[in-house]
Amino acid sequence: MTLVLKLDAANPQPELIEQAASIIRSGGLVAFPTETVYGLGADAMNERAVQRVFEAKGRPADNPLIVHVWDRAMLDLVADQVSAKAEALIAAFWPGPLTLVLKRRPLVAESVSAGLSTVAVRMPRSRIASELIRRAATPIAAPSANRSGRPSPTTAAHVASDLEGRIDLILDGGVTNIGIESTVLDMTSEPPAILRPGWVTREQLSDAIGTVELAESGDALKHSPGTSHKHYSPRAQVLLVELNSSGSIRQLCSDLLKGGPVGFIGHARLSIEDPGFNAIVLRDSAEDYARSIYSALRELDERGADVIVVEGISDEGEGAAVMDRLRRAAAGA
Ligand code: TXA
Ligand code: MG
Repeated sequence: MTLVLKLDAANPQPELIEQAASIIRSGGLVAFPTETVYGLGADAMNERAVQRVFEAKGRPADNPLIVHVWDRAMLDLVADQVSAKAEALIAAFWPGPLTLVLKRRPLVAESVSAGLSTVAVRMPRSRIASELIRRAATPIAAPSANRSGRPSPTTAAHVASDLEGRIDLILDGGVTNIGIESTVLDMTSEPPAILRPGWVTREQLSDAIGTVELAESGDALKHSPGTSHKHYSPRAQVLLVELNSSGSIRQLCSDLLKGGPVGFIGHARLSIEDPGFNAIVLRDSAEDYARSIYSALRELDERGADVIVVEGISDEGEGAAVMDRLRRAAAGA
């Protein structure tokens, strides 16, 4: 049985947070909202608790977890050798959607790092997340609270549909603000390398610390095993139409409709009258796409689409993170 507690995101009820914190302290699993997506939390220093996270998600054991801390002092429990560049990023972007990969300290449960000598850490901005960690008084390991390979959850209902019965508690704090996961930056390489693009952009990072690489493939990405797994996929096949690709999206959808139900996510208004056609129209902005993309993929899945056509946006700025997720969702299509 999974308990669900409704919280006020701006002013979370202390007694409910305390209930969640005591579950974390006793080795249980609590899903909670962050400013990016919902996380599935466990005490990062408790090996058995962390293993339960992998079991509940069906997550491959070689994919390490992000540790969430409440304050700068808590970082010192989990990570070592925090460089001047890392301190500059912490000052500029924490609390917020930036995860730093640092040297791991031995007290962190081993499976958090999946055998690596590093640990990924972030300090979330959301009130519920930060109060939960503060009251639990222990760093919280939390991957996104979805079954492995599914789109990340941006509502408590998404978490329930993937993990009901497999975890102890869901803190329902409404829809998450940003909608896609944090930027993951490897601080153990020089220059630092982006392992996963996110809401904090490459430009913002290099403004703060100088050159930052983008680990597109190959060696750098071996440091982040998770990025090689298939990700963010609904049941339906996803077809991504990149910005500036030739051909008409309307024609593509009409052709696909001959084979079965089709979903569409994009900013074009296609006016296709067909009972098998379902469109979710977004504004042409990275903010709107980020906030809606995972729930749109889930919703079209539920409405029975065989194929979901997604209209891409520009790769500029925050758009890079959105397009990264869409390309992964479409991979193999
Ligand atoms: O916004 C987020 O980051 C959300 C919320 C809940 O904080 N969490 C999240 O966790 O997206 P997850 O597990 O879905 O993604 C973690 C990513 C994976 O790509 C994983 O491979 C990478 O971080 N990662 C974790 N530890 C790492 C490490 N020590 N070295 C390299 N990459 C690591
Ligand atoms: Mg995830």
